[in-house]
Amino acid sequence: MLGNFIYSNPTKLYFGNNALDNLPVALKDYSRIMLVYGGCSIKKTGLYDRIVKLLKDSGKTVIEDGGVMPNPTVGKLYEGCKIARENEVDFILAVGGGSVCDYSKAVSVSTYCEGDPWEKYFIKFDEPDCKIIPVGCVLTMVGTGSEMNGGSVITNHAQKLKIGHVFGENVFPKFAILNPEVTFTIPDYQMKAGFFDIMSHILEQYFSGEDDNTSDYIMEGLLKSLIHSTRIAVKNPTDYEARSNIMWTATWALNTLVAMGKSTDWEVHMLGQAVGAHTDATHGMTLSAVSLPYYRHILPYGLDKFVRFAENVWGVSPANKTKEEIALEGLAEMEKYMREIGVVMNITDLGVTPEMIEGIADSTLVMTGGYKVLTREEIIAILKESL
Ligand code: NZQ
Ligand code: ZN
Repeated sequence: MLGNFIYSNPTKLYFGNNALDNLPVALKDYSRIMLVYGGCSIKKTGLYDRIVKLLKDSGKTVIEDGGVMPNPTVGKLYEGCKIARENEVDFILAVGGGSVCDYSKAVSVSTYCEGDPWEKYFIKFDEPDCKIIPVGCVLTMVGTGSEMNGGSVITNHAQKLKIGHVFGENVFPKFAILNPEVTFTIPDYQMKAGFFDIMSHILEQYFSGEDDNTSDYIMEGLLKSLIHSTRIAVKNPTDYEARSNIMWTATWALNTLVAMGKSTDWEVHMLGQAVGAHTDATHGMTLSAVSLPYYRHILPYGLDKFVRFAENVWGVSPANKTKEEIALEGLAEMEKYMREIGVVMNITDLGVTPEMIEGIADSTLVMTGGYKVLTREEIIAILKESL
């Protein structure tokens, strides 16, 4: 039975190859814009120049905060808050991928926060009770869904923790500009990591609950579109149709819609984030490296759903097979797809050694919404399987 919920998503989307033209209108109520970006990719592609010109032509004061690293750190967050506060910015424009968007949301709730934002939001999971600076985003990297959700993931290397806080609607981006052409320049490794991140977001929500939920049918459709389009995009990264479908799927995979009425799991992300906290590896690849050992481990506890996954997503024929055989064949098809796309299949390739397993297990949060609440021994076993 579908549980009770309230659904609303305040982010306005501008989609398509002329979406950036809408930037001046989207920013009409703001004047002191903090322009947040990552390394040099937006300067190389010319996006930086186009955006600065649009901002200057519409009379904005531009305050720059570049150098946001993949897997943004708490140290960088403190730096951004100082820039925002000293310059009294009234809007944060994130131009980049999930790291830049997540960081911008963290700065938005932390600039006027009393006390330490890391402690408040990422350890105690308190909600903001201070002034929030609105955020908008020009997305350049596809995968996280950060453009239309309240998620913000920050890494604290000293504490060996990578933690996400899912903030409420007041922290969602006010708008997101999605131009699929901008994604053509994403490096191959990042592109593929993003593809698997999308798949993982859908699976984290799909593999929970045993009831008849509309969200599961939507997710099967999203998965089929994703599998189809990513197979095209890895061969031809500038295929606009494939890249635009992938961009749109990524947004719907994690903009809260398909979570409605579901408990949702997120244990693969907890394992992946723990690997990330110890290695600083690329997010999507930390997920691909642990997913199959995790799903094979929990399969007996959610068998009917794994059977449904095999039949409806991968087209496995059930004829003359046991439920276990059908379910395992579904995961074998998923493995074939992952190898075809070219994602990382084990944590050794991400720099993990057997000696690091205990520490990574200590950094892994245990979720309760999936088919099995993991014990520490199970976490260690899954991590060892993933080596
Ligand atoms: O820094 P620059 O030079 O811009 O280069 C970036 C970066 O090195 C490059 N890139 C991005 N767009 C490009 C491009 N290069 C050329 N052309 C373009 N158009 O790609 C690299 C990776 O960027 P990043 O933003 O780190 O990737 P992603 O979007 O995968 O974000 C990862 C972060 O998001 C968090 C992850 O944990 C990780 O910290 N997540 C956020 C979520 C959320 N808000 O809901 C959910 C996710 O599960 C995830 O945890
Ligand atoms: Zn993710």
